[in-house]
Amino acid sequence: MTQLIPVLKKEDIQQKVASLAKRISTDYEGRELVIVGILKGSFIFISDLVRHITIPVKIDFISVSSYGTSTSSSGQPLMNKELKMDINDKDVLLIDDIVDTGLTLSYLVKHLGALGPRTIKVCALVDKSERREKQFKIDYVCHKVQKGFLVGYGLDYAEMYRNLPEIYHLKF
Ligand code: IMP
Ligand code: MG
Repeated sequence: MTQLIPVLKKEDIQQKVASLAKRISTDYEGRELVIVGILKGSFIFISDLVRHITIPVKIDFISVSSYGTSTSSSGQPLMNKELKMDINDKDVLLIDDIVDTGLTLSYLVKHLGALGPRTIKVCALVDKSERREKQFKIDYVCHKVQKGFLVGYGLDYAEMYRNLPEIYHLKF
């Protein structure tokens, strides 16, 4: 039997997302901000976040997969959809739903870094620290947990639960 234990309520998510958007809007004032979202997990987070951002912003998506139906990383991420937008000399903010081992984001920072952005920073809805293998700075984060498998608000388990409006700990 699986169990869903509440981690972040709707109001908490909205408040954290709005305050993060405020910080981003201030930090990138006067710059050419390009948000690069990592599909699919970040789609709900990004759609809420960008509606609170008050500076001009361009948005594109990239898709990589590191998970089959398991709950731990398979190592080297697989590129499913490349970035289409030109990020040369742009300020890039790379956004994922959750950082676990860090392999996905560190791979993508390197990958996008080769395309000549002016700056590249990292944002995640959740920073999950216990299994981190690649150490790097997560510039913007909404929520920190040590461990556990989270679902809802875009996060899935075997493609399920993405539509839940709140974030839950999935207990197996
Ligand atoms: P990493 O490469 O190990 O940091 O894994 C990052 C990716 O694994 C994220 O983009 C998620 O898609 C997925 N992931 C890691 N932990 C969880 C979780 O607790 N719930 C849902 N997806 C997760
Ligand atoms: Mg993901």
